Amino acid sequence: MALRCWRWWHCSAWPGVRSPPSRSIPTPGFCRQFSTQEKTPQVCVVGSGPAGFYTAQHLLKHHTRAHVDIYEKQLVPFGLVRFGVAPDHPEVKNVINTFTQTARSDRCSFRGNVEVGRDVSVPELQEAYHAVVLSYGAEDHQTLDIPGEELPGVVSARAFVGWYNGLPENQALAPDLNCDTAVILGQGNVALDVARILLTPPQHLEKTDITEAAMGVLRQSRVKTVWIVGRRGPLQVAFTIKELREMIQLPGTRPILDSSDFLGLQDRIKDVPRPRRRLTELLLRTATEKPGVEEAARQALASRAWGLRFFRSPQQVLPTPDGQQVAGIRLAVTRLEGVGESTRAVPTGEVEDLPCGLVLSSVGYKSRPIDPSVPFDPKLGVIPNIEGRVVNVPGVRPVSFSDWEKLDAEEVCRGQGSGKPREKLVDPREMLQLLGH
Ligand SMILES: Cc1cc2nc3c(=O)[nH]c(=O)nc-3n(C[C@H](O)[C@H](O)[C@H](O)COP(=O)(O)OP(=O)(O)OC[C@H]3O[C@@H](n4cnc5c(N)ncnc54)[C@H](O)[C@@H]3O)c2cc1C
Ligand SMILES: NC(=O)c1ccc[n+]([C@@H]2O[C@H](COP(=O)([O-])OP(=O)(O)OC[C@H]3O[C@@H](n4cnc5c(N)ncnc54)[C@H](OP(=O)(O)O)[C@@H]3O)[C@@H](O)[C@H]2O)c1
Repeated sequence: MALRCWRWWHCSAWPGVRSPPSRSIPTPGFCRQFSTQEKTPQVCVVGSGPAGFYTAQHLLKHHTRAHVDIYEKQLVPFGLVRFGVAPDHPEVKNVINTFTQTARSDRCSFRGNVEVGRDVSVPELQEAYHAVVLSYGAEDHQTLDIPGEELPGVVSARAFVGWYNGLPENQALAPDLNCDTAVILGQGNVALDVARILLTPPQHLEKTDITEAAMGVLRQSRVKTVWIVGRRGPLQVAFTIKELREMIQLPGTRPILDSSDFLGLQDRIKDVPRPRRRLTELLLRTATEKPGVEEAARQALASRAWGLRFFRSPQQVLPTPDGQQVAGIRLAVTRLEGVGESTRAVPTGEVEDLPCGLVLSSVGYKSRPIDPSVPFDPKLGVIPNIEGRVVNVPGVRPVSFSDWEKLDAEEVCRGQGSGKPREKLVDPREMLQLLGH
C-alpha cells in the first residue's frame, strides 16, 4: 500500500533520528525529541482544518528544514472553513489563501483521502515521523439525551450545515422544510448561522458557494418562524455581537424578544466585560425599545420572524399522532442558580410545549477517539494532554550500548564496597532515572 511506502521512505530518510535529544517542538500531539541541527525533521499533521494548517505554517516558518505532511480524511482540504463557515460569510474563508501558500511549499505535502485510525494507525505515524500533531477537530455533535431525539425531523445543526455546505456525507440529509416553524436548540453562533440560512431570502444566497441542491430546497421552504432556544438567560448567550446584528438586520424578517426576560438587566450589565456588555445592550435595545419609523415599517412588511426563547431546557421531542414526525418540543422552564461562569439552569418544574415541524440541535461538539492507541476522555470528548502534549502514552526510549556502559559502571561501583564484582541494578525505573530518561 502507498502508505507503507511513505513510511519506509521516511524511515530510510532519517539520519538524525538517533541523535541525542536536545530540543522538542512545542506543538500538540506526540513528539519524539529532535535536534534543530537535524537535516529534515519530519512532522505529520492529522487534519487539514485551521488548527492543522496553522501548525504546519508555524513549523515551516520556525524550523527552516522541517517537512510537514498533512493527512486529511476528506478528499479536499480546509476542514470547517470549507464545510462549516456559512456561505454568506465569504470573508472568513479568506484564510484559505494563506493555507494554500503553506500547502504549496515544497516542504509541505497534503495527503487527502487518508483517514488516520482506519487507513493508517497512529503508532505507524509515530514510527515514521519525529512528531505527530493531532488536529482532527471535534466532529461529534453533543446529543440531547431526551425522548424523541431519534424522530424524523430532528436534525443536528452540524449535519444541516454540512448539507448546505457540500460535505459529501451529509448530502442525503434532505431536511423537510415543509413546516411553518423550526426550533433551534442552543444559542451559539452555529444556531444563528442555521437560523440565518433558513430565513435569508433565497435570492441573497444564490451568488454564494452554497450547493445548488440546498438552494433548491431553501427556495421551496415554508418555514416562516425560527425559535432559538436557550436554557439560560440573555447574559449567558454564546453567540457574538456581529452575528446578532446580522439577524436583527436580516431582510424580510423581524425579531421576537420578550421584554420580561430582560427585567433588571440594565443594572447588572455595568460590571460585565465590555464585549458581553455591548452584546447584552444590543439585545436589551431590541427587546425593549420601540423601533424608529423606518425600522417599524420594515418589520411590518416582514414575512418571516425569528425569536429568542430564554430559560427553556429541552425535555422531550413531541411526535405527531402517528409517531412518524416531529410535532413540537416540550421545554422545561428554568431559573438560574449560581453566579458568573458557574451560573446553572435548574428546572422550576413548569413545562411549556412549543409546536414545530423541525428541530435543529445546536448544542456544541466534541472530539471522537481516533485510534485505540491514543488515550481519550469520553466524558470531556478530548485527548488528555498537558499544554498540548498527549499524556499517558508510553514513550519508547531505546537504551543504547553506551547507556548500558553507564549502568555497568554503576553496578561495578555499587559492588565494590562488599567485595563483589558488581551489585546488579534490578529496578527498571531506577535504571531509566540513572540514564536521565
Ligand atoms: C458550523 C460551524 C461554523 C463555523 N463558523 C465559523 C466562523 O464563521 N468563524 C470562525 O472563526 N469560526 C467558525 N467556526 C469555528 C471554526 O470552524 C473551528 O473553530 C475551526 O474550524 C476548528 O479548526 P480545527 O482544525 O480544529 O477543526 P476542523 O476545521 O474541523 O478540521 C479538522 C479536519 O480534520 C479532518 N479529520 C478528522 N478526522 C480525521 C482522521 N481520522 N484522519 C484524517 N483527517 C481527519 C477533518 O476532515 C477536518 O478536515 C465554525 C464552526 C462550525 C461547527
Ligand atoms: N461566525 C462565527 O464566528 C462562528 C460561526 C459558527 C460557529 N462559531 C464557533 O464555533 C464554535 C461552536 O459553536 P456552537 O454554536 O456549536 O457552540 P457553542 O458556542 O458552545 O454554543 C452551544 C450552545 O448550546 C447550549 N447547550 C449546550 N448543551 C446544551 C444542552 N444540553 N441543552 C440545551 N442547551 C445546551 C449552550 O448553552 P449553555 O451556555 O447553557 O451551555 C450554548 O448556548 C464556537 O466557538 C463558535 O463561536 C463561530
